[in-house]
Amino acid sequence: MDPDYIRIFDTTLRDGEQTPGVSLTPEEKMEIALQLDKLGVDVIEAGFPSASRGEQKALKEIANAGLRAQVCALARALRSDIDIALNCDVKYIHTFISTSDVQMKYALNMTPDQVVEAAVDSIQYIKDHGVICEFSPMDATRTDMDFLKRVCKAAEEAGADYINIPDTVGIMTPKAMERLIRELKEVVNVPLSVHCHNDFGLAVANSLAGVEGGASQVHVTVNGLGERAGNAALEEVVMCLHLLHNKRTGINTRLIYETSKIVSRLTGVVIQPNKAIVGENAFAHESGIHTRGVVVKPLTFEPFSPELVGRRRKLIAGKHAGRHGIKAELEDAGFHPTEEQLREIVARVKELGDKGKTVTDADLFAIARAVMGKTAEEKIIELSDLAVVTGIRVIPTASVKLIIDGKEYVAAETGVGPVDAAIKAIQKITSTLADVRLKEYRLEALTGGSDAVAEVIIKVEDREGNVVSARGAREDIVMASVEAMINGINKILLKKLRKA
Ligand code: KIV
Ligand code: ZN
Repeated sequence: MDPDYIRIFDTTLRDGEQTPGVSLTPEEKMEIALQLDKLGVDVIEAGFPSASRGEQKALKEIANAGLRAQVCALARALRSDIDIALNCDVKYIHTFISTSDVQMKYALNMTPDQVVEAAVDSIQYIKDHGVICEFSPMDATRTDMDFLKRVCKAAEEAGADYINIPDTVGIMTPKAMERLIRELKEVVNVPLSVHCHNDFGLAVANSLAGVEGGASQVHVTVNGLGERAGNAALEEVVMCLHLLHNKRTGINTRLIYETSKIVSRLTGVVIQPNKAIVGENAFAHESGIHTRGVVVKPLTFEPFSPELVGRRRKLIAGKHAGRHGIKAELEDAGFHPTEEQLREIVARVKELGDKGKTVTDADLFAIARAVMGKTAEEKIIELSDLAVVTGIRVIPTASVKLIIDGKEYVAAETGVGPVDAAIKAIQKITSTLADVRLKEYRLEALTGGSDAVAEVIIKVEDREGNVVSARGAREDIVMASVEAMINGINKILLKKLRKA
C-alpha cells in the first residue's frame, strides 16, 4: 500500500444525483460512468438500487460494462436492500446506518444497540456473498465519539473492508476533521474514507484535512453536485491533493474539464463562472497587469497551467484590459493589427467596458474586423454626425453629416426603418463620388441581450461593377450599419483611385 496514493470514490451518480432537480436516465448514467472510468476514478458509486427499477437497470448495466473502476451500489443496513444490490451484479456494496442520537431517534426510531446489531448483520451478510463492503456510520460527525468508536470497531470485526466517515450535514471544520480521523485510526485498522458535504463551503477543505488525519480515500462528486449544497468537488480535491498535498490519485487530470462539461450537460446543473478549476473564469484574465504578466510568463498570475486540467487560458477584453492582453488575444486568433488599429480597438473595448458591458471574444473579433477592415490611413469619407427618428406614427428618418476632404456635407432621408434611412442619406451625399448600391446586408448579434455588440457585414457595388465587402461593429445597429457602409464606400473610392 502506497501511503501517498489516495483512492477517489466518485458518488456523482448517487449523492450527485440527489442534487435537487437532477434525475438521470439509465443511458445518461452509463455515459457518465464511462467518462468517470476514463477519468480514472477508483470507485463509481453508480446508484441506490432500492430507490427504483430505473436505478437497478442502470446499476446492472454499469456493473456489467467491463469498467476498470470498481462499481458500487448503496444499500441501507437492511438485508432486503442488500439483496436488491446483489441482484444488480455489483461486487462492491456501500451500506450505511445513522449513528447520531438525533438521527437514531427521529429518523430510524432505533436504539444504539439495535443500530450496532443492524450494521454488523449487514456487513456480515455482504461479506458472506463475497462482495467488498464499505460501511458508513451516517452523521458520524455528530455522533457521540465513544459510540462512533464502538460502531467502527464492530464494523471492522464484522469484516468491513473500508469505513467511511460521513460529515452528513457539513458541520465539520478542517481541524476537527483531521483530529477525528486521527482518533479513529487509533482504534481501527481498516482503511478510512471521508464523505464531506458542503453546507458551510468546507467540503473540500474538510476532505483534505481528513486525508491529513490519515484517510486513504475521499468521496467526491464532479462539479461538487450532491444533496443540498453538494459534496466535495472531485476536480478541487484531486488538484489540491496533487499540487498542494503532494499525494497521488489515479485521475488523468487532463480529462477533468471534459468530464465536468459532460456532467453539467447531462444533469442540467450549470457551473458557476467563478467555480475553481472548471468555472468559465478559472483561467480567464482581464486586468491589464494580469494579462501582461501571463502573456510574458503564465506563472505570474496562474497557480498551474490550464492544460493540466484540459483547459485553455482566456484573456478577456474589458475595461480593465490592457493593450498586451488584447494584442495577444487577437494574435492568437490570427489578427495582426497595426499600432494605430490596436489603439482604436483598445479604445472601443474600454468604451464598452465603461458602459458596463462584457466584451466577449466574438465581440472583440468583430471590433477588430471592423477596425482593421477600414483603410485607416486612407479614409476619404468620415462620419461626423448621425441622428435618427423612428416610431409607430413617425416615418423613419435619418440625417447624416459626413466629412469629405475636410468639408462637411449634410443630408436627410426617410426609409422603411432607421438603417435604411441612414444608408440612403449616406448614398445621397456620396453619389457624385461613387454611386454605390448595397448588394448584401447581414446583421449578427454576437452576444445575447439587447445591448449586444452587433456586427454588420455588407457587400457594396458601384456602377462600374467594383464590389467590396465591409464591416461595422457597434452596440447600436444603426451605427454598425453606417460604419459598414462608410467603410464600403471608402474601399470602393480607394479602388478607383488606385486604378486611375
Ligand atoms: O451524506 C451521507 O451521510 C451519505 C451517506 C449515505 C453516506 O450520503
Ligand atoms: Zn452524502
